[in-house]
Amino acid sequence: MTIKDKIIAITGAGRGIGRSTALHLAARGACVVLGARSEVELADVANEIVGAGGKAVFSVTDVTKRSDLNMLVARACEAFGRLDVMVNNAGIGPISRFDALRIDDWDAMIDVNLRGTLYGIAAALPVFARQGQGHVINVLSTAGLKIVPTMGVYAATKNALRTATEALRQEAGRNLRVTEVSPGFVDTTFADSSITDETVRATISKQKEQLAISPDAIARAIAFAIEQPGDVEVGSIVVRPTAQD
Ligand SMILES: NC(=O)c1ccc[n+]([C@@H]2O[C@H](COP(=O)([O-])OP(=O)(O)OC[C@H]3O[C@@H](n4cnc5c(N)ncnc54)[C@H](OP(=O)(O)O)[C@@H]3O)[C@@H](O)[C@H]2O)c1
Repeated sequence: MTIKDKIIAITGAGRGIGRSTALHLAARGACVVLGARSEVELADVANEIVGAGGKAVFSVTDVTKRSDLNMLVARACEAFGRLDVMVNNAGIGPISRFDALRIDDWDAMIDVNLRGTLYGIAAALPVFARQGQGHVINVLSTAGLKIVPTMGVYAATKNALRTATEALRQEAGRNLRVTEVSPGFVDTTFADSSITDETVRATISKQKEQLAISPDAIARAIAFAIEQPGDVEVGSIVVRPTAQD
């Protein structure tokens, strides 16, 4: 049961849940491979880890580009010789009511949350097959468990992924572990960085102030799935604030 020396790629690792997960896993001895679009944020996280004596490299990654995910996985193999875990965490939530017709936002959520995660799986699977072992962890959302107004398309992308994750788990066999982690309200830049509808953003920001838990809680859940013995697969974890409906 160990995290030490595992090679773990994390998308969306520049801030929020991805950053906390990278810091947590690196502090426990993992070699982390960070992906996101902001080079400045990735470099900050990598420097913090390396400064504390850990191991981290990064590759600027836009998950809507398959080639970027291939490069992220290649970076892991080049720097550390293999890839043990792929954490598909990058996601956006420009949520709104359907009648606001923010169709570009719908497309963006499909591209980043759904296609981006599928591309992450596609990049990692050949390496996992070659190695004879691997672990896919997909970050979903409680928005897909309790469906609420304004979150329709966002929840749809996360539930499409939930379906894909379950099929992958069934196909995986004994050498590939597959885990889904569904966070509730987490204190990150998520609302501010992606909600384009001002009224919705104000509502979500207020709920976040009242409810949100630290992204460290999600990092610990991801670590729990990784640290199990190789023949133990943690299929699904839901981590939400106690106060969340
Ligand atoms: N916060 C919550 O309450 C909450 C609840 C449930 C589920 N989640 C899920 O948790 C995951 C992480 O969210 P968070 O709260 O940590 O959000 P966040 O603070 O906004 O961080 C999102 C991360 O994803 C990256 N990202 C965004 N678009 C990307 C793209 N096209 N390619 C690569 N990276 C991209 C961002 O970096 P760049 O912008 O530099 O690319 C950033 O590093 C998401 O999948 C989200 O759906 C969050």
